[in-house]
This record gives sequence, C-alpha cells and structure tokens, in this order.
Amino acid sequence: MSRKKVIAGNWKMNTTPEEAAKLIAEIKPAADKSTADVVLCVPYIDLPAALEAAKGSKIGIGAENVHWAENGAYTGEISAPMLNALGVKYVIVGHSERRQYFGETDITVNKRTTAALAHGLTVLLCVGETLEQREQGITFDVIAIQLKIALSGVSAEALKNVIIAYEPVWAIGTGKTATAEQANEVNKFIRDTVASLYGAAAAEETIVQYGGSMNAKNAAELLAQPDVDGGLIGGASLKPADFAVILEAASK
Ligand code: PGA
Repeated sequence: MSRKKVIAGNWKMNTTPEEAAKLIAEIKPAADKSTADVVLCVPYIDLPAALEAAKGSKIGIGAENVHWAENGAYTGEISAPMLNALGVKYVIVGHSERRQYFGETDITVNKRTTAALAHGLTVLLCVGETLEQREQGITFDVIAIQLKIALSGVSAEALKNVIIAYEPVWAIGTGKTATAEQANEVNKFIRDTVASLYGAAAAEETIVQYGGSMNAKNAAELLAQPDVDGGLIGGASLKPADFAVILEAASK
C-alpha cells in the first residue's frame, strides 16, 4: 500500500506571532502545491496567529507539547482542552529536547500521548537514540522501550491518530543527518514494533517520519526510502525556500 507523506515543521522556541503569520504566508504556496500533508508546530503564543494565517490553506497547525491534566495547578503548562478550544489539531509529544532539558520521561510521554489522543489531537510522537546508545549497539532496544511505553494504553483505533517520528538525538540541529539507509532501518524497526503490538495491517497504515537535520539537499533521498513516510523538520522549516524544496520532494 502507499502511505501518504506527512511533512511537519517544528519551530521550537522561534518566532513571535507576527513572524509566524509572515512565515506561514510564505510557506502557503508550496504547501498547497504539495501532495503531502503539511503541519506546522509552533510556540503556544503563536497558535492563534498561525491558525488565522493558515486559514484556507492545507497547512495544519500543531503545538509543541501538551500536559496530561485537563486543568489545575501546573504552572506554565497547557492542556489538550485548551488546544481544542483554539482549533489546534496536532501536537508534538516526547521531543528529545523535552526529554533532555525538561525532565520528560517515557512515563510522562505516555501520559501526554494518551491525554492528547483522548481529546482528539493527532500526536507526533518522537523517539530516538543518543549517540552513546547507538555506539553501544542498543538503538533498537531504546526505540522499542520508548515506543512500547509511549503507546501503553493506546487503542488500535487511537493509533490512527499517532504519527511516529524517528529522531536520532545525534542528528537534531547538528547538521549530521542519518544516512537514508540508517533512517529506513530504524523506521522499519518502528513499523515492525507497531506490528508486534497492533498487527501488520495497522503497522502498514502508520505514518513513520524521519527527523534530524532534514534539509533541502538530503530530503529527496530520505523521503524516497520505503519506510520513511515524511519528515519532522526543525531548522529548515524556518526557511520557506528550503521547506518548499522538501515539500516538493515529498510530492514525488
Ligand atoms: P532539525 O530539528 O531539523 O533542526 O535537526 C528536527 C527536530 O528537532 O524535530
């Protein structure tokens, strides 16, 4: 079967609302031309401006994180119902920067994932090994554990709203990309793990992206791999011309 491609931008801690609206206006033409689904995940404060700017285009807007509770004493956090109220459809969960700098664990990733899914959000679930783990030869073990814990309690029906992003930590923001073979190898392992949990048919339908220094130069080769169904793109998603090249590569 042929899965549709999903190209997502992760703007991280960049852009004011005004800058976000301008950037979306610049990305729109290429997004509308692409056959891929296009998602832009933006800082919380940019969400209203981004939703407004993306109106009438095929760009879906996402947040970069979500809390598991509906409301309460969680200073600095944002809940799924709050995202629902704005009309946000997507959310990144488990990004390695959250795990590395903000104490995110597999358990909290699972709590955020299940809460987001319960409120109808599509989750871009990030998994990936560090350089040390790759060198120790435990990449597959790490990915399997991250996936199995993150998806614990997620039904086969809810899995349809999960996009998995393989993001090797050593490739994020470093300019060091996984080779197309490395990306495909782990993406295939992810699909096999999903098959072991949900069956082969569900695994065949699951979108598995690659992320980590995907750019205008390497996107075509990465996206041509049979198990790479799209990309989660940081740096290059802030550059409309480069992002347009990636969107075009995903249309082939
Ligand atoms: P990068 O970021 O493309 O800048 O490496 C990817 C990500 O963190 O999602």
